[in-house]
Amino acid sequence: MSEQQNSTNSIKRIVVLVSGSGSNLQAIIDACASGKINARISCVISNRPGVYGLERASHAGISSQCIDHKQFDSREDFDLALVNAIEQAGADLVVLAGFMRILTDNFVNNFHGRLLNIHPSLLPKYPGLHTHQRAIDAGDTEAGVTVHFVTAELDGGPPIIQARVPVYSGDDAHTLATRVLEQEHKVYPQAVSWFIDGKLSLIDGKAILDNEILPPQGFDFQD
Ligand code: GRF
Repeated sequence: MSEQQNSTNSIKRIVVLVSGSGSNLQAIIDACASGKINARISCVISNRPGVYGLERASHAGISSQCIDHKQFDSREDFDLALVNAIEQAGADLVVLAGFMRILTDNFVNNFHGRLLNIHPSLLPKYPGLHTHQRAIDAGDTEAGVTVHFVTAELDGGPPIIQARVPVYSGDDAHTLATRVLEQEHKVYPQAVSWFIDGKLSLIDGKAILDNEILPPQGFDFQD
């Protein structure tokens, strides 16, 4: 095998799961293209037909497929199909990017230590949905985003990186979401790149970066 073939084969592969617009997917596509992330996306999978995330994959020449959860009788069957598709594509890392399905423990355990999620709040605040409205309703003066390892607990795995944004008095959920999303597009490629470079891992339930245990809220990203 030539050196070039060898290095092509050893490029790490990422599978990205989406359910919607896929702007975080786009940030990761762009970071792979620019070399900030030293990997390639081997497949994009959506659980919803016709979403823009699938179009983004096709524009970038990335193979994609829809596995529509509505076609399955149970969550277990859906997750099994998902695991099979991911394993077929080959994945050193599985990235949930606006993937709006709760995954079974089987799925999560299958990809233990190589499954990341992005959540639009400063976890452990506001796991679940409607994070921006909840932050506004609570009168919070700051909000943000967390990238974390996925474990069986919903939005409860060890944080890797957080970015904070101010909440202004005139904010509604939309204006706040837009401000947070801008930070999401920075921190997700950063976390993925750390993982791909072998700097980030999950050991004994703790997120480790450069051989140090990260603080409970993860790395504090400064723009
Ligand atoms: C993001 O806010 C992400 O944090 C949340 O869902 C949204 C997805 O946005 N999990 P996009 O599909 O990446 O544009």
